[in-house]
Amino acid sequence: MISVMLFLIVTLYLSFTSDALSLPATSTTPIPPYTPPTGPPSQDKIPHIIFLSADTGGGHRASALSLNASLTTSPLSTSFTSEIVSIWPGGAWPYRDLVEAYVHLSRHPRQWGFLYHLSNTGPYLCWMNGDTVLRNVKRIRKMDCWRTADIIVSVHPTMTNIPQILSKQPFYTVITDLGSCHATWFSRRCSRMFVASEKLYEKARKRGWVRRSKLVRSGLPIRPVFGEEGERMGERFGEEGKRYREEKKAKLGLKGNGVLFMGGGEGVGMEEYIWGVKRSLEANDIKSQIVVVCGRNKLLHERLSTSTPPPPKRTIIKRILRRPKVESEPETGGSVKLIPLQFIDNPQEYMVACDVLVTKAGPGTIAEAASLSIPIMLTSFLPGQESGNVDIVLEANYGNFSTSVPEVSSIISNLISDEDLRSRMSKNAEKIGDAKAGERIAEVIWEDYWAGRTGRDFGKRRRWFREAWRRVRGLEDDS
Ligand SMILES: *[C@@H]1O[C@H](CO)[C@@H](O)[C@H](O)[C@H]1NC(C)=O
Ligand SMILES: *[C@@H]1O[C@H](CO)[C@@H](O)[C@H](O)[C@H]1NC(C)=O
Repeated sequence: MISVMLFLIVTLYLSFTSDALSLPATSTTPIPPYTPPTGPPSQDKIPHIIFLSADTGGGHRASALSLNASLTTSPLSTSFTSEIVSIWPGGAWPYRDLVEAYVHLSRHPRQWGFLYHLSNTGPYLCWMNGDTVLRNVKRIRKMDCWRTADIIVSVHPTMTNIPQILSKQPFYTVITDLGSCHATWFSRRCSRMFVASEKLYEKARKRGWVRRSKLVRSGLPIRPVFGEEGERMGERFGEEGKRYREEKKAKLGLKGNGVLFMGGGEGVGMEEYIWGVKRSLEANDIKSQIVVVCGRNKLLHERLSTSTPPPPKRTIIKRILRRPKVESEPETGGSVKLIPLQFIDNPQEYMVACDVLVTKAGPGTIAEAASLSIPIMLTSFLPGQESGNVDIVLEANYGNFSTSVPEVSSIISNLISDEDLRSRMSKNAEKIGDAKAGERIAEVIWEDYWAGRTGRDFGKRRRWFREAWRRVRGLEDDS
């Protein structure tokens, strides 16, 4: 009993001293910008940059790599070394199974939604912060990275709180979400926090009580190849753009209109839509091609290669009566050609060549599609985390959202046959498309580096607390 009480008290103490739940600063004096410059860093040390990331979905690693590239090519850059580190392997349960948990949850959106909303509440965050610190901090403290790093960049929501407690280096949080995000991102001990949209900025202020001076509206960093490709293409429906797209189509062996399906590495959740769209296009006699990136989904790849739709699902009654499965026949002779691909390393080229993108509401894909001004059709989202992304697409009016197969099929048929509509949506996408976010973030990081901002803006409140404690106890100042 006593140990439980003690645990609760310690947890509560840690949560309140951790930033997630502390009261907002109410002082009216303007907040000083972070850490005074102490002169440029010495030239003989090559800075080591550590990206904190984990492979939960492809987005975090992609962001880290794109930032690495931007940091390399930035005009303010100096030579540096870098690595990607995760603090969770070997950690306490359940944190060590982060990646497996993600793969499971992303396939079960209801469970995801339940956990997301549960963990996005004050009391839960409070408990979670305490729990992660108590059970993990000893091991994580021993990791090399806190000694070797000169700059730390976190692109993962579960690697903000503890790393910020442990590191003494400049600490940057890059939120890799677009329209909505989890409150674990808003750990306030960071040096700066980069947010992708106005919505997240507001949320960071209201929900996370992050200081204005720390927040930077940067946009979402996307892979640099998208920016380069976008520059070469120019306006999608301009003269140059049309010519460039024809060239791309010829290079990729595509002809005429193309619908591009991308379902992430697992390639799941697209099949119904693919067949629905195919039948709808054929019913309307629209000549088109459907390009599908199947990823690891071998079965899907095989079915599409032979143009064989999945067998109809057996009802429970049929299963009880042990009726044999009906094998489906290949569909041939339609006006729509299916082109299944496994993994591609040039999604940007396919996005240039194709006319509509069908995908789920991942923040990276949405931002990349906008940078190449391709109209986008969203068919699903992870509850909570990605619901805001759908709003961003609908508000900017460069895409549509539906989960019903007939509706998706009719919207796509409509889009493919209506070039004016596509052109309008494409113009809207151009307005919010932004491939420069990575550059902006790199610039800020290097500026801080050259200004000699080597400490981390952290511990103001703690210092105050320690000082008050010393005064109460009548201790000498030891700093
Ligand atoms: C970052 O980019 C540099 C230069 O391209 C490369 O050598 C390095 O391996 C990259 N770092 C990571 C973590 O990928
Ligand atoms: C999105 O789909 C709905 C329903 O089919 C349709 O009414 C609407 O016009 C579509 N929006 C765009 C931008 O195409």
